[in-house]
Amino acid sequence: MNDVLAVVKGNRAVARDTFLMDLDCALEPSLPGQFLMVKVSSSCELFLRRPLAILGQGEGTLEILYKLKGEGTLELSRKKPGDVLWVLGPLGNCFSPPQNGESALFVAGGTGLPPVLALASRVGSGALVIGARSKGDIPLLDRMNSLKGVAVYPVTEDGSLGRRGMATDVLGELLAGAAGPCAVYACGPRGMLEKACELSGVAAARCEVSLEEYMACGFGVCSACTVKTSAGPRRVCSNGPVFDAATIAWGAR
Ligand code: FES
Repeated sequence: MNDVLAVVKGNRAVARDTFLMDLDCALEPSLPGQFLMVKVSSSCELFLRRPLAILGQGEGTLEILYKLKGEGTLELSRKKPGDVLWVLGPLGNCFSPPQNGESALFVAGGTGLPPVLALASRVGSGALVIGARSKGDIPLLDRMNSLKGVAVYPVTEDGSLGRRGMATDVLGELLAGAAGPCAVYACGPRGMLEKACELSGVAAARCEVSLEEYMACGFGVCSACTVKTSAGPRRVCSNGPVFDAATIAWGAR
């Protein structure tokens, strides 16, 4: 983990309230699921860093995809090429790749696409279910469709793209139709993750979830991100953000 200076190369809207930022940044190599704590401003109001998942990383470059959720991300959306940010990372653990012949089923909703797409790009096989309210809320569809070996299933609540319904409707069908063992990788709203865990349990599939809890420090000091698990309280930033879904006490906060 290092705190490095990043220079904004690009920052553009790619879906409703969703931005893709390209950075020049010499961060040490990351793995799918790991995240950054980004300092968006030195003002007192925005003193705390924002946790953001890593979408992509190249030689001296980083990509982050973020949704407007408050003052911090609004400030981030105003950044122009040449502006600088402090980026702490890579932080947290990562997804474990499919093993023993498992087929990968990737599920993303809400702000959960970056770590799931990062993993799907790395694995290069399986199915990716992306759920959203409407077509305009789904970013990077061309990029998802260009993944060789990964079948993409858009699902929208209003039926404006792909299937009408919820991402977990399609996940349930994919699990029911699978010919062999599956590994489910999910990130998004808590209700979606809980349902993905339940469906995976019924299908005897392994399920890993990346949790999106409020964070303050990002590296295990403040306890702001604690969740209850079958092994006791765990910090999402330093014990996660990726957990075996079956260990999460979904009903407890
Ligand atoms: S954010 Fe401080 S312990 Fe996790």
